Amino acid sequence: MKACAGWRRFLFCFPLVFILPHLFSVLELHQNQAVTDAPKENTQKFDVQNSSVGGGNDAPKKATKKFDHLVLGPAAGEGLPNRLQCQGVKALNKTHFSNPAHASGVGDGIAFVTVFTIYNNSPDSTVNSRLSNLVTVGNASYSKPERSMAIMNVFINFIQMRMPQSNVIILTDPESDLSLRQNRVTVLPIQGEYSRDKLMLQRIRSYITFLEIRLEKLSQDQGHITHFIFTDSDIVVIDDLGQIFEQYQDFHLALTFRNNRDQPLNSGFIAVRGTHDGILRAKKIIEKVLEVYSFRYMKASRMLGDQLALFWVVKSDPSFDAKGFSKAQAFTKEIGGATVLFLPCATYNWTPPEGAGQFHGMPLDVKVVHFKGSRKRLMLEAWNYFSSSTDISDMLCLILKSGRTKYDF
Ligand SMILES: *[C@@H]1O[C@H](CO)[C@@H](O)[C@H](O)[C@H]1NC(C)=O
Ligand SMILES: *[C@@H]1O[C@H](CO)[C@@H](O)[C@H](O)[C@H]1NC(C)=O
Ligand SMILES: *[C@@H]1O[C@H](CO)[C@@H](O)[C@H](O)[C@H]1NC(C)=O
Repeated sequence: MKACAGWRRFLFCFPLVFILPHLFSVLELHQNQAVTDAPKENTQKFDVQNSSVGGGNDAPKKATKKFDHLVLGPAAGEGLPNRLQCQGVKALNKTHFSNPAHASGVGDGIAFVTVFTIYNNSPDSTVNSRLSNLVTVGNASYSKPERSMAIMNVFINFIQMRMPQSNVIILTDPESDLSLRQNRVTVLPIQGEYSRDKLMLQRIRSYITFLEIRLEKLSQDQGHITHFIFTDSDIVVIDDLGQIFEQYQDFHLALTFRNNRDQPLNSGFIAVRGTHDGILRAKKIIEKVLEVYSFRYMKASRMLGDQLALFWVVKSDPSFDAKGFSKAQAFTKEIGGATVLFLPCATYNWTPPEGAGQFHGMPLDVKVVHFKGSRKRLMLEAWNYFSSSTDISDMLCLILKSGRTKYDF
């Protein structure tokens, strides 16, 4: 394991630096730990040197180098009928997304919930070190602390564009002075221990506290139902996710899966039906995950635990059958007293690094792209590209083609 590389250096080698080691940084660790998060894929090597967009013509010397500008490679899934086909960064297929203006009636009853915190003591805040650490995407430059905030902003931008009726709720440490004044965005401080090594554990606790608050609210105001989607903040919402709650009427909790033996579930996307029953049963499962995490996985890794615990809870149920994970098709199962909907990552949690290989390209109906690991720059580049092209399908080509590139951002 190379110490102090990329985002890990960001996290561990300069632990006091004013950074926002939010969950997206955390997920980088999933990938780099001895137990890897990314399913093994064909690690077919290819030349990523061909085209580069957005500055810098210096051809990389090694494929392992982390890039500070957008680098495009071949698009996975070429020739496959149900996969996005691209010519350069132009999409040959126009994907059929719902028009945000006519989104499902459910849309106005959806809230995205994410955990985000700011760590405040910054020896890095001097003007000089600030300038030396600037990175540039499009016409904007970001210092280290600004990068995480930029990711959060892009997360919000896409949600507001694709699901304009939905809300974003940011659960945060009361100590962190996160100020975000924006329509349909709520910052909700929740007491807890948000130190880096406890962050994943705290995230589950914050989810539970949040669901308790909702239960309370719901008992006061019977009328209004809001469904919740708990996510990492390094995801981009591509299509109306309110449809999940219409299309699958009877689940309490939805998780995303992929065909990976050790870690088929990703904890970065958890949908909860906002009825009293839905919240209650989902909360029970998440409480169980917390218990298993605390009991079994505290030592496994300070970052990986929640995902392992989630899978442990699912696989410990007598009804569990791993076969369901082998096909990228949604299915439901009764787990721990709740109806759990399993949604394929290929559509609901597509990730650039493994998605290009494991999922054989990008499905035409992809709904969520997750910029795990060293793809943070690509998330900002995608927004930047979209801002000028305003074509979602073309932007997806850019993501697909750049998906195997590791960025140092
Ligand atoms: C780059 O890609 C173009 C078209 O995709 C191809 O014609 C060209 O030969 C490639 N160049 C290199 C150096 O691989
Ligand atoms: C996507 O575009 C390619 C190239 O134009 C075409 O061959 C393919 O049939 C299209 N796929 C769908 C599902 O429309
Ligand atoms: C930077 O780009 C954005 C979007 O492309 C644009 O709205 C903005 O005006 C630009 N800012 C400057 C200083 O050029």
